[in-house]
Amino acid sequence: MKLIGIGHYVPSKVLTNFDLEKIVDTSDEWITTRTGIRERRISQGESLTDMAYKACVKALEMAKLNPEDIDLIILATLTPDLSFPASACLLQSRLGNSKAFAFDISAACSGFIYSLDIAHSFIESGKAKNVLVVGAEKLSEIVNWQDRSTCVLFGDGAGAVVLSNEGKDKLYFSKLLSDGSFWEILYARKCDYINMKGRELFKIAVRSMEEACRQVIEMSGVKPEDIKLLIPHQANIRIIESLAEKLNFPMEKVYTNIHKYGNTSAASIPIALSEAFGEGRIKDGDIVLFTAMGGGLTWGAVLMEL
Ligand code: ACO
Repeated sequence: MKLIGIGHYVPSKVLTNFDLEKIVDTSDEWITTRTGIRERRISQGESLTDMAYKACVKALEMAKLNPEDIDLIILATLTPDLSFPASACLLQSRLGNSKAFAFDISAACSGFIYSLDIAHSFIESGKAKNVLVVGAEKLSEIVNWQDRSTCVLFGDGAGAVVLSNEGKDKLYFSKLLSDGSFWEILYARKCDYINMKGRELFKIAVRSMEEACRQVIEMSGVKPEDIKLLIPHQANIRIIESLAEKLNFPMEKVYTNIHKYGNTSAASIPIALSEAFGEGRIKDGDIVLFTAMGGGLTWGAVLMEL
């Protein structure tokens, strides 16, 4: 499997911590020191499919593929436009593709790495040739804008990659896990807002991502120093820093953009990957390590050669 296209899209509307000070009893100082977030993007009438479509157009452009060249579309989201059909099908229609099969994945913040792994299995089994993997969220729709403990954390956006069976074999190792007994730590009932036990999540996030990263590094036999970049889910800068410290990764080898976008759940890793690539932090042939943890609880890590 080779990654041949990357793209992302974020809405143009910026909501700063100072804007939030006017909505709830909070401060820029509290949000910045506790989370690392300075601002986030908020959709202004754009649907999830609109944002996903814009990220996909960029990823397809880089891959030099037409939408009809795609034979599988996997969209990770916890904020689909409709209960059904899957947003992946709405996206397929928007792209003008009639050849692919398409479905959504619900694994919260781990949705992108779960989808990456599913795409890998379809490609390796020969059942798909070109796969579009998308992480997209419109979290502003399920955030309670009166609840200061959650509304400061989340944002909207989308990221997409095109994976193909072309070229030589590339390194790929993964470890995905979940534990449903923790579902009440982070959830939203149908047509309701996000509920979260932040402190408990914080500790589990660091521990679970560390374990998953250690497992894939060991499985792969790759030396940690040969990993070019760690791209973790962007939930809280303190979670990321603790994880990096436990893994003995200097922060220069860890990608962060949480200050600009907050937590965009399934979209956070593909947006970060796209920006890291755009900034020249990673290139073809580099080994990257992705890790995420989110509602479910779900978590995992993927180590792959670009
Ligand atoms: N502004 C000002 N004060 C606030 C705010 C706010 N926005 N939110 C909470 N507080 C107050 C609380 O009421 C509390 O006040 P009290 O001491 O008088 O009771 C105080 O700040 C401390 O609250 P805590 O919740 O204990 O603060 P903590 O340091 O744990 O930070 C946070 C909270 C940022 C949510 C942190 O626990 C966290 O990031 N947890 C991880 C959760 C997460 O990232 N969830 C997203 C999905 S899961 C994932 O992606 C890993």
